Amino acid sequence: MARTSAGPRSSWWRSPATRALAGLATVAATAAVLVTAPGAAAAASTLGAAAAQSGRYFGTASAAGRLGDSAYTTIAAREFNMVTPENEMKPDATEPNQNQFNFSSGDQIYNWAVSHGAKVRGHTLAWHAQQPGWMQNMGGSNLRNAMINHIQKVMAHYQGKLAYWDVVNEAFNEDGSRRSSNLQSTGNDWIEVAFKTARAADSSTKLCYNDYNIDNWNYGKTQGVYNMVRDFKSRGVPIDCVGLQAHFTGGSSVPSNLQTTISSFAALGVDVALTEVDVTNSSTSQYAALTQACMNVARCVGITVWGVRDSDSWRSNESPLLFDGNGNKKAAYNSVLNVLNSGGGTPTTTPTTPTNPTTTPTTTTTTPGGGSCTASLSAGQSWNDRYNLNVSVSGSSSWTVTMTVPSPARISATWNINATWPSSQVLIATPNGNGNNWGVTIMHNGNRNWPSVSCSAS
Ligand code: XIL
Repeated sequence: MARTSAGPRSSWWRSPATRALAGLATVAATAAVLVTAPGAAAAASTLGAAAAQSGRYFGTASAAGRLGDSAYTTIAAREFNMVTPENEMKPDATEPNQNQFNFSSGDQIYNWAVSHGAKVRGHTLAWHAQQPGWMQNMGGSNLRNAMINHIQKVMAHYQGKLAYWDVVNEAFNEDGSRRSSNLQSTGNDWIEVAFKTARAADSSTKLCYNDYNIDNWNYGKTQGVYNMVRDFKSRGVPIDCVGLQAHFTGGSSVPSNLQTTISSFAALGVDVALTEVDVTNSSTSQYAALTQACMNVARCVGITVWGVRDSDSWRSNESPLLFDGNGNKKAAYNSVLNVLNSGGGTPTTTPTTPTNPTTTPTTTTTTPGGGSCTASLSAGQSWNDRYNLNVSVSGSSSWTVTMTVPSPARISATWNINATWPSSQVLIATPNGNGNNWGVTIMHNGNRNWPSVSCSAS
């Protein structure tokens, strides 16, 4: 069952004011803030909110190992509304032994992101690098089958949860031919097999091809990828998006024709995103130029930088990010923010007036087996099309909470629970070892009444 929300061009990446509004007491203020049309509003003060004014996202790569660093998480939560796991959803992380999957650090990133109002880009399913050892030594039909199984199992785990998946990463040479790899050796059709497998595994997420050095329209590799996407589109092979990694480090810089590249891909009928941005010494002009190139193309849906602070970067010796090692905003931060706030003249979506749920939360206790528990709801962040609810369970630690949302509302995400889904309106939650505080994101679909909950202890 699909439980995801609409794509990221919907209008719910809203202002910092919206993200700060947490309680029912603020309903009137929420409505007042959001009837202001985008563009007419005062300049936004965070990257995510500024990008949201034109329906885009602004993301960061995030590493599970950084989530205990409050200086890091403070910036990440404040500035970004899309998160890409830097390494945690790669094949070596998710399938360390053949057909034995480990989602613990991927889930950590996912849970952190959604509980802070961000969406998640999955990265990546089929790649020549960061393969587990057992896969590196494989070839032929064994590897083909292992790739298919990997895509199916990993996508099943995140089914309905991710905005985008990088299905295939870095499959081309600089001259536009296919990169030789064990995956390529299984047959030239391995990329389309990966995309078809991915669509069948989760039809709710957008499927992307992602690569570096495909920013310059006149470059062989760019043309190679472009021809593949055009071919896929013409033959009905499922592909929804192209990610330009946009690493302007390690000797490369922003080409003057970047916008042509973005608009040419977009014209094939795919979303385009800059997915792993970093720039040597954070050149303000290059950061402004790449942001402007995205803003100038309606179908350029968002920008992700490859880390939060320079000290978090995989190329930290080039100081390529928007925050310095002390978490201070760099000059490049302001140049990006200004371009995002200038709007770029692209189409914007008109926001509807959001409110939090209009009735009071329900708290119910039942005592079937002698124990008792109570589930209490409180409002979390809200956006145009959805809101978060926080749930706190007291009493017994062996609880089962059943939550029923009023149709046509749907629960789109959960955190800190084991969840089962009798229907898209009904969630059964049990503890997952992370305590008794958890939450849900609900797409209200026009019905903002609170869900009902009942708690049963065993
Ligand atoms: C990098 C990570 O940042 C490093 O931590 C890791 O050691 C190697 O991979 N292209 C990609 C990313 O698609 O996954 C890579 O990330 C950077 C290049």
